[in-house]
Parts: sequence; structure tokens; C-alpha cells
Amino acid sequence: MQSKIIRSAIIGVTALTATLAGQAFAQDDYPSQPITLVVPFSAGGPTDTVTRLIAEPMSEVLGTQIVVQNVTGAGGTLAATQVANAAPDGYTVFIHHIGMSTAPTLYRSLPFDPLEAFQTIGLVTTVPMTIIARPDFEPETLAEVIDYVKANQETVTYANAGIGAASHLCGMLFMDAIDTQLTTVPYQGTGPALTDLLGGQVDLMCDQTTNTSGQIKAGEVKAYAVTTQQRLDSLPDLPTADEAGLEGFNLGVWHGLYVPAGTPEPIVQELSAALQTALQDENVVARFAELGTAPATQEEATPEAHAELLAAQIELWRPIIEAAGVYAD
Ligand code: MLT
Repeated sequence: MQSKIIRSAIIGVTALTATLAGQAFAQDDYPSQPITLVVPFSAGGPTDTVTRLIAEPMSEVLGTQIVVQNVTGAGGTLAATQVANAAPDGYTVFIHHIGMSTAPTLYRSLPFDPLEAFQTIGLVTTVPMTIIARPDFEPETLAEVIDYVKANQETVTYANAGIGAASHLCGMLFMDAIDTQLTTVPYQGTGPALTDLLGGQVDLMCDQTTNTSGQIKAGEVKAYAVTTQQRLDSLPDLPTADEAGLEGFNLGVWHGLYVPAGTPEPIVQELSAALQTALQDENVVARFAELGTAPATQEEATPEAHAELLAAQIELWRPIIEAAGVYAD
């Protein structure tokens, strides 16, 4: 006659064994269904563009469909919250950029800690930003833009993709550098923002070359500077912000891949390996170059390296944002 304690212990061990076996089978069988890759900004913008370029080769490596899902709002933090609460089964993957490191300071009631709620997969790319204006904006140079916005700060408008977006961060740094506050117009992404800029509905924007390169090359917008230390091969005539008079104004928008914390290690490694392969894909390399950027290195595209980058960036941006006194809540 087994005691109740032994019987419940056997039941408990049996259940645990079945669970672990189930997880092991799930990991061995991974992926056995489509993967959702969540993008925190609207379709057609720079984050979406980078995502769709890597999704195709990653899908081939993983042997399953990758469904890109655009979840917008609050500078990317709504999407991040959704993914933080998703099942850690490898079927919800998240791409986000430098906004992952600024959100903890910008949003004082952020419902997640990026370092606790997510498992890093790896760095994807770091994209330069460009300071651009509507095609009929009067200033011809960045120095003239600075004079113009100082003289007309009540009327000049600046587009961004919400507090926490890279376009918001660049705007914050720009306004801080010239000691002038502009009226900001938030969008769900800089894809639609660029449409309004082209139409003259908004004056200025700082956005990534993965969104602005085509319009700059076609002369459809006024382009004043790029936020890298060296000029870009893809936009050789565009001066750096430093050359154009904004000394030391350097900003690169790094993008990383994440899964919910608790995702089994074999799945994390399989996703990271698929990312690393995608970053060596000929089409990805060529399209990234046309768009002014380059794939992360294989070392950068590892969970460990990206975790270190994320932690360091959170610490880097905290005092800068606090000094600017910019908060979302
Ligand atoms: C941003 O941070 O401004 C976003 O990258 C915009 C976007 O991807 O639509």
C-alpha cells in the first residue's frame, strides 16, 4: 500500500518528466510552425525594411515561414510589452533598435525590464541617420537650418515615430545641441512620416538611411547631413553633421533580435545561427550597402555580445536623457 506522500511524489515526478520530455521534443522539433517576427513600427519604415530583408534568408535556414507583424505605438514599447508577455517557445521573435536602451529612462513606468524580460539573439545592423527636410524648405545648409529654426521655432515642425523612436532620440539630441525646441509631430513610423514630409505637411526629420536613401538620391527631399563620423559611400555628397557644423553629433541606430526570457537555449542558439547566416546572405549585404548600412559581424550577432551591448547602451543613454529632461510619462 503506497503512502499518499509517495504516490503524489511519483505523480509529480511523472508530470515533470513528461513536461521536460515535451520541452525536449519541442526543441528537437523546432521550428514546427511559422514564426512571428514583431516589428515595433509601421510597415514601410526603416525597421520594417531591415526586418523583411533578413526574414527571407532566416526563413530558409530555419525551414519555416516567418510572418512579419507590425505592432505600433509608444515609440516601440507597446510591441516590446506584447513580446515580453509572449510564450517563450521560439515562435515569437522581436526586432527593436536603440529604443530598447532608451525606453527604461524615457518611460518611468515601463512594464518590463529589457534585461530581464528578453533573451538577446544578436545584433543585426547599425544604421546611420540623416537630417532631412521637405523639398521646398528654404535653408540650403545645416547652418542655415539652425539659424532658420531658431528664428522660427514657433512654426517649424519636426516628425518622429513617437517617444523612444530613433527619430525621437535624434531630434532630442538635435534640439539640445541647438538649444531650440521644435513642435514635434509623432507618427506610427517614419514610413508615413516621410510621406508627409514629401508632401510638405511637416518640415524636418532625422531618419535612418534605410528609409531616406532613395528620396535623397532622387533629390526628392532636402538633405543636410548624415550622423556618422565619415561620409557614406552610398551618399558621398552628403556631409557629416560634424562637417556641417554640429560638432560631435554622431548617432548610429543599432538593431537587435530578441525572444521572451526563458526561451530554451537550443532555440536561442538556432535563431542566432539563422541570423548569422542571413547577415552573410548576398542580397542582404548588397541591399544593406545600397541603403547606407552593413550587417553586424558574426561575433556581434551572438546572444552574449548583444546582451553586453544592450546593458552598456542602457547605462550610456540614462544620464543623457535625464540631463535633457525628456520623459514619456
Ligand atoms: C524610428 O525609430 O524612428 C523608427 O525606426 C521608425 C520606423 O522604423 O518606422
